[in-house]
Amino acid sequence: MSFLVAVSGKGGVGKTTVAALIVRQLIARGRSPVLAVDADPNTCLDLALGVRAEETVGAIREETKKLAAGGETKGIAKQELLELKIAQALVEAEKFDYIAMGRPEGPGCYCYANNVLSSVLTRLAGHYPAVVLDNEAGLENLSRRIVRGVDALVLVTDGSRAGRETILRLHGLAREMGIAYGRLALVINRVRGEAPAFDPGELRRETGAETAVILPDDEGIARRAEEGASLLEDLNDNPVVRNVAELTDRLTENK
Ligand SMILES: Nc1ncnc2c1ncn2[C@@H]1O[C@H](COP(=O)(O)OP(=O)(O)OP(=O)(O)O)[C@@H](O)[C@H]1O
Ligand SMILES: [Mg+2]
Repeated sequence: MSFLVAVSGKGGVGKTTVAALIVRQLIARGRSPVLAVDADPNTCLDLALGVRAEETVGAIREETKKLAAGGETKGIAKQELLELKIAQALVEAEKFDYIAMGRPEGPGCYCYANNVLSSVLTRLAGHYPAVVLDNEAGLENLSRRIVRGVDALVLVTDGSRAGRETILRLHGLAREMGIAYGRLALVINRVRGEAPAFDPGELRRETGAETAVILPDDEGIARRAEEGASLLEDLNDNPVVRNVAELTDRLTENK
């Protein structure tokens, strides 16, 4: 069974950074190949992993639909063609594969688009020991049920009071929508100075999260993004890398 972890939170808080560093630690622990899924339409997990996305599942889906409508599929069933093309969209690296979901919206039935994403993901995921899902802001992807449930849900926030409120809201939303998760973890990211503006332990208790980790605001991490460079190389003594590694170990313990 693959271990599925999803990273969510509001915009710009560090979801992609955390997702990439979770991939890094899963690889370090030998849970490879990891499937890294970029579920944000504005793909950027690829850069953080040092690869480049050429195609997205969403774009392929639209393209295949047009081909099928124009009778250009030459007898190949639409579903079969779709799967063939999606296999081509998978970016293969040494210890992980990467796939970008692209836009779920498009002309036509919204549920159809979701179903395609969902079935692709479910089918693909089964081939990997671990799957990391980097989401767009909010809980959109999870609420659209493109995954049935996750083993671990990681909610990322900043260290501000507003960040605390956001986590409570997201957590409430997740419960309301019946999003199924095994373990819940909170990541309080880019904390400057000694501590965040709220008590992480209290927030952990309020949400029932198993762990809450604090990541410092780190120059080395910020620079990687500026340069569009991979987070999978070097950075061995980096505190952000180290803390996400510990978090990943906790989330995968006995799983
Ligand atoms: N701990 C950190 N220290 C320094 N910079 C960080 C840290 N975490 C994230 N950043 C930087 O903050 C920016 C936003 O991070 P990231 O892209 O991971 O956020 P995101 O939540 O995925 O954003 P989006 O909602 O746009 O997808 C990036 O430039 C990233 O390098
Ligand atoms: Mg992101």
